Amino acid sequence: MGGGPPHGVSAEPGGIRTARVLAVYGSPRQGGSTDTLLDFFLHGVEEATGDTERIVLRDLDILPCTACDGCRKSGRCILTDDMTGLYEKLVTYERIVCAFPVFFMGPPAIAKAFFDRAQALWIRRFVLGENSRPESSVERKGYLLSACGYVTADQKRKKRFFSCSETIVRAFFSACGVLYDGSLLFSGIEGPADIDKDPTLKKRVTERGRRWIGPLR
Ligand SMILES: Cc1cc2nc3c(=O)[nH]c(=O)nc-3n(C[C@H](O)[C@H](O)[C@H](O)COP(=O)(O)O)c2cc1C
Repeated sequence: MGGGPPHGVSAEPGGIRTARVLAVYGSPRQGGSTDTLLDFFLHGVEEATGDTERIVLRDLDILPCTACDGCRKSGRCILTDDMTGLYEKLVTYERIVCAFPVFFMGPPAIAKAFFDRAQALWIRRFVLGENSRPESSVERKGYLLSACGYVTADQKRKKRFFSCSETIVRAFFSACGVLYDGSLLFSGIEGPADIDKDPTLKKRVTERGRRWIGPLR
């Protein structure tokens, strides 16, 4: 063990540590509402740290979990596809931000398939008792961005439209060993044109991204 930063944490000149951010685009629609929101958010993140990696689920081949129990003994999924290379990132990156719309009260199928495949990580942590980053004291954090079409100013109703997505993402982050650290959720959004209607939204989402990343502790 050397005296450098924990494994995987970028060290900038002057010793400031920056987080690596994994950004997950979870909508099947390219350039849609949630792609746009995540672009704004990452703009802020990248002003604070340059270290982002984008994962676009619609461009990947991620099979649904078949509940074969192949991961039960090893915590490793036996399916071989584009998810295989993502596991290591999910247990090491300091920040994960997921963006996807509400489809029938939950995530779109491509995002749900991705979350379900974290079952192997859940087995690692909660059955086999493996800690993903025992050598690091850095708190790993996750964030959710989402949009739905339903128009309401009633906060209680709005909350209901995102509650399934939030619950699922919390479980996913928990499997990854990541603390759920908040969300930005927008109702009444059917596409980027609705985002443009609010002239302050871009600035607010970018600012949230900038502040979320913060210094590593
Ligand atoms: C298959 C499908 C299901 C949807 N289900 C809901 C829903 O249950 N509630 C809702 O408010 N909006 C629903 N919407 C609207 C989307 O959440 C909304 O258009 C969102 O802005 C799309 O985001 P995107 O452009 O990032 O894909 C649905 C849209 C589609 C295509």
